[in-house]
Amino acid sequence: MALLKLNNISKEYERGGKKFPAVNNASLEINQGDYVNITGRSGSGKSTLLNIAAGMLSPSSGSVELDGELLNFKSDKELSLMRNNKIGFIPQGLAALNYLSVLENILLPFYLYPDKNFGDADGYARILLEKFNIEKLADAYPNELSGGELRRVIIARALINRPKIIIADEPTADLDLENINNIMQIFTKLNEQDGTTLLIVSHDQEALAYGKKLFIMSEGVLSLKN
Ligand SMILES: Nc1ncnc2c1ncn2[C@@H]1O[C@H](COP(=O)(O)OP(=O)(O)O)[C@@H](O)[C@H]1O
Ligand SMILES: [Mg+2]
Repeated sequence: MALLKLNNISKEYERGGKKFPAVNNASLEINQGDYVNITGRSGSGKSTLLNIAAGMLSPSSGSVELDGELLNFKSDKELSLMRNNKIGFIPQGLAALNYLSVLENILLPFYLYPDKNFGDADGYARILLEKFNIEKLADAYPNELSGGELRRVIIARALINRPKIIIADEPTADLDLENINNIMQIFTKLNEQDGTTLLIVSHDQEALAYGKKLFIMSEGVLSLKN
């Protein structure tokens, strides 16, 4: 069974009074353990598709199945619960709360929907910090961090609820080569050692080299590369 299934997804937007498809009939099936990349030019619809896949945005038509469940008919509350439990979503840009410490930022998704069976979230947050070599930054604040450090915090935050799939939008944008490789090695380890399923949008050639399956988005149309 597919972990994440996009069935004929389209999303229409309007510009200058004219409708256009930002995503045009895209289908994609991701199985447990897959490592899938999507690339494509700016404006081709990658973020729109990813936001739909993560249940953040509803499609104009088509459906999303996550772990055997259709997302279409869920209430906002059900949807956010499911998202919070099963998906680690990393949106485009560096979204951290500046008035919370690094540790508090990482714990935020846990405290929003505390899962009774989960156990020691604080301990797990510290394990993640150690894993990403930023354990010294637990009590620092986001605006004291470098871009690469902040990315690692955001990845740790996406992992705190032990999601089945990580969905990341340009997680290496604006990083230097060393940090790109650093972040991608983190993703590769998550996939190979922990079996975390990955769906990553990127247009960094260096970052794409780590994936196992590559799709291209072109004017809203998604296709498998070679
Ligand atoms: N909320 C919106 N309203 C209208 N147009 C939008 C909206 N969001 C994105 N678009 C347009 O949809 C297209 C795809 O955008 P996006 O998915 O962000 O592309 P990408 O992530 O590949 O750069 C672009 O032409 C963009 O301007
Ligand atoms: Mg984008």
